[in-house]
Amino acid sequence: MLALHMKLIVRGAPSAPLKGSVSVPGDKSISHRAVLLASLADGVSRIEGFLDGGDCNATCDVVRALDVSVLAPTPTSRVVHGVGLRGWAEPEDVLDCANSGTTMRLIAGLLAGQSFTSFLVGTPQLQRRPMGRITEPLRRMGARIAGRAGARFAPLAIQSPDSPDAPGRLHGTIHQLPIASAQVKSCILLAGLYAEGPTTVVEPGPCRDHSERLLRACGVDLVVDGRQIQLTPPASLQPVDLRVPGDVSSAAFLLVAAAGRPDSDVTLPGVGVNPTRTGILSALERMGAKLERLELREEGGEPVADLRLLQEPLRGTRVAGEEIATLIDELPILAVAATQADGETVIADAAELRVKETDRIETTASELRKLGAQIETRPDGMVITGHAPLRGATVHSHGDHRLAMALAVAGLFAEGQTIIEEAEVSDDSFPGFVAALRELGAEVEVKEEDASC
Ligand code: S3P
Repeated sequence: MLALHMKLIVRGAPSAPLKGSVSVPGDKSISHRAVLLASLADGVSRIEGFLDGGDCNATCDVVRALDVSVLAPTPTSRVVHGVGLRGWAEPEDVLDCANSGTTMRLIAGLLAGQSFTSFLVGTPQLQRRPMGRITEPLRRMGARIAGRAGARFAPLAIQSPDSPDAPGRLHGTIHQLPIASAQVKSCILLAGLYAEGPTTVVEPGPCRDHSERLLRACGVDLVVDGRQIQLTPPASLQPVDLRVPGDVSSAAFLLVAAAGRPDSDVTLPGVGVNPTRTGILSALERMGAKLERLELREEGGEPVADLRLLQEPLRGTRVAGEEIATLIDELPILAVAATQADGETVIADAAELRVKETDRIETTASELRKLGAQIETRPDGMVITGHAPLRGATVHSHGDHRLAMALAVAGLFAEGQTIIEEAEVSDDSFPGFVAALRELGAEVEVKEEDASC
C-alpha cells in the first residue's frame, strides 16, 4: 500500500510581517459532540462548519458502523439521520477510533448504555493513552468493561447487559473528577443519558463545556450549579441545526505566528471564544500581544468573535493552576511564543501534557531545542527562556498534530530553513494549515514522499 509522508519546509523570515485575514476550520471538540448527539436524536441534524479532519472523521466512521447515516454533502457539512437514543445497531466489527482520544472516551460513555457488546480499538499511539480515567467511573455506574491492563488501556470491550431487554441498567451517581478533563466529564454525562436517576459530575476547575451546551440544545435537562453539573436522563434527544465555530486551538498557531513577527496584523473571522477555551488569548495578552475580539456574537449556543492580532513585543508569563485546563492543547504553541519573549515563561501544573498524543513536555522541549530554544523540563511543565536565537534544523512531529504545527511556527522565527518530518498529522485537527500560513505571507512548502518501502 502506498503510504505518503509529508515534509513541511519552512523558510524562516524572523523580521517579515504576516498580514491578512484567513478562516480556521471548525472546532474539533464541538464537531465530535455534534455528530455523536445527532446520531442519537429523533430526526435529521445538519452540521455546518464541521471539522473535516482525521479525528472528527473517525467519529463519523464509528457512528456509521453503528448503522447511522452520516452524509457529507460538502467537506465541511454533515447531515446526520438520527436513529433515537436506542437506535444504534450492534456493530459487525471492532470500532476504530483511529488516533482520536476524544472519539474513544466520549463514545465509551454512550456505548456503556447500549444493549450490545462493542469493541474499541485505535492506533498504537491511542492505545497507549490512559483509559482508566473513564472505565473506572463507568464501572461505578454499573457498566461492564474489559480491557488491557484491567481496562486501563484500549482495546476496550464494552459488554452488553445480561438481558438485552434491560437497557436502563446504568445507575446515576455523583462523580468527583480528580482532574479537570472535559473528555472524562463528557463520557460520564453521556453515559448518564442511559442511567436510572440523575448523574452528577463535580469538576475541580473549569474545563470545556461544549457537551453541556450541546446536550441542552438537544433538549436535555442539565443543571449547572458552580462546579456541579447534573443531568437527568431524557426520553429522547432533539435534532440540531448547527454552525460549528472556528477552532480557537487552531487559531492559536496563526496568532502566535503573527505575535512573533514584527508589524504583523492578522484577522481570523468566526473563532469560538468560549471562556473555557480562551486561556491562550489571555496568556498572549499578558505577554503583550494586542488582541481584539471583534463582532462578538453567539452562534449555535457558543460565543464567537473575529480575532485580530496586532504584533507588539512579547514578555514572559506564568501559566499554572486552573488556567491550564483552558489552554491545555495550546501549551506547545505557547512554548513557541515564549521563545520570542523577553525573560522567562513558566508552565506549571500541566502534568496532563504527558498523556496527550505524545508526552508533550518532552517532545516539545526536545524538538524546539534542536532549533536552539532554551527550555528546561519539569515533571509538570517547562521553563522557557526567551530570545535564544533560533536556527533552522530538521525536526520531527512524533505523530502529534499540535507538535507538527508548533514546530512549523517556530520555523517561521528561525534563521534559515526548518524541515518538519511527518507533518501530515496536522490534518488531524487543522486541514489547510499550510494554505492558511501561506495566505498570511509565510514561506512554507510541502514535499510528499513515499514511505511504504
Ligand atoms: C477535549 C478535551 C481535552 C483536550 C482534547 C479535546 C475534548 O482533553 O486536550 O484535545 O474535546 O473534550 P482532556 O479531557 O483529556 O483534558
